[in-house]
Amino acid sequence: MSSDKVGAELCKGINGLDKVVLRESRGASAEVYLYGGQVTSWKNDHGEELLFVSSKAIFKPPKAIRGGIPICFPQFGSHVSLEQHGFARNRQWSIDTDPPPFPTNSLSKAYVDLILRPSEEDLKIWAHSFEFRLRVALSPGGDLMLTSRIRNTSADGKPFTFTFAYHTYFSVSDISEVRIEGLETLDYLDNLQNKERFTEQGDAITFESEVDKIYLSTPTKIAIMDHEKKRTFVLRKDGLPDAVVWNPWDKKAKQMADFGDDEYKHMLCVEAAAVEKPITLKPGEEWKGRQELSAVPSSYCSGQLDPRKVLLSC
Ligand code: BG6
Repeated sequence: MSSDKVGAELCKGINGLDKVVLRESRGASAEVYLYGGQVTSWKNDHGEELLFVSSKAIFKPPKAIRGGIPICFPQFGSHVSLEQHGFARNRQWSIDTDPPPFPTNSLSKAYVDLILRPSEEDLKIWAHSFEFRLRVALSPGGDLMLTSRIRNTSADGKPFTFTFAYHTYFSVSDISEVRIEGLETLDYLDNLQNKERFTEQGDAITFESEVDKIYLSTPTKIAIMDHEKKRTFVLRKDGLPDAVVWNPWDKKAKQMADFGDDEYKHMLCVEAAAVEKPITLKPGEEWKGRQELSAVPSSYCSGQLDPRKVLLSC
């Protein structure tokens, strides 16, 4: 890693936790905590923060940091006898000094490779050896790219199965002015109704109460349009068929110790995920899941709120 202005620099963050700061030549930046392997900041070239992190977030083990992009692995949600959303988000990751070759984004100098391997304690709660390699990269234009590579390194010949999500908290000006395009007419599992399956009706997704849905087999591009900010986030994903949409709204917000009572107005989670069909890896096999985020002025997208045009032109 370089300590030049452009590139990646290891330094101390909140409570002395290690973090890596990524900087691109045109001014975009990002921060990644080794605790959780978690992106906690992504700024455009005007220095505007694009991700939400709660003012009450606790940057201290064992609590996962509330905001940014927590990694949910080896499970999304709380189906098996593991903690909710798995343990990757509250483990200490290491810098991966010798990652296997990466075919993508050779143009960018602003990237970091992290690695998580299970500890003895982890093996007691999830008895599977794995190597989880995470690359976080900023493109020269300021796009944020996360690539996860998970390998089964078991010597016992046993496969393992997992679910996964990039639990991305987008920063929005006012949740009631936000719409998501790309998920309309899709089937979803509603976490607020015992994971029952429904079909989305209507032109676009807007918000006026608590939402906790897992959209199934979604397109690879989803647009999140912040009308007040005149900003559109475009989420592109690969290897991650599902998309979780979550906003706790006022009542749930008040129940979360690490979340401000009114902060639900300024965040929205849209999470590239693999939930409905868990992934199974045999020993030696590797899975790859990628998420790319761009933030563009809505005026760049001809047709503005027409999902097909936005998704084609951004
Ligand atoms: C979302 C889930 O992804 O994460 C919600 O769909 C959950 O059900 C939310 O409440 C937050 O989870 P946690 O464990 O970070 O409080």
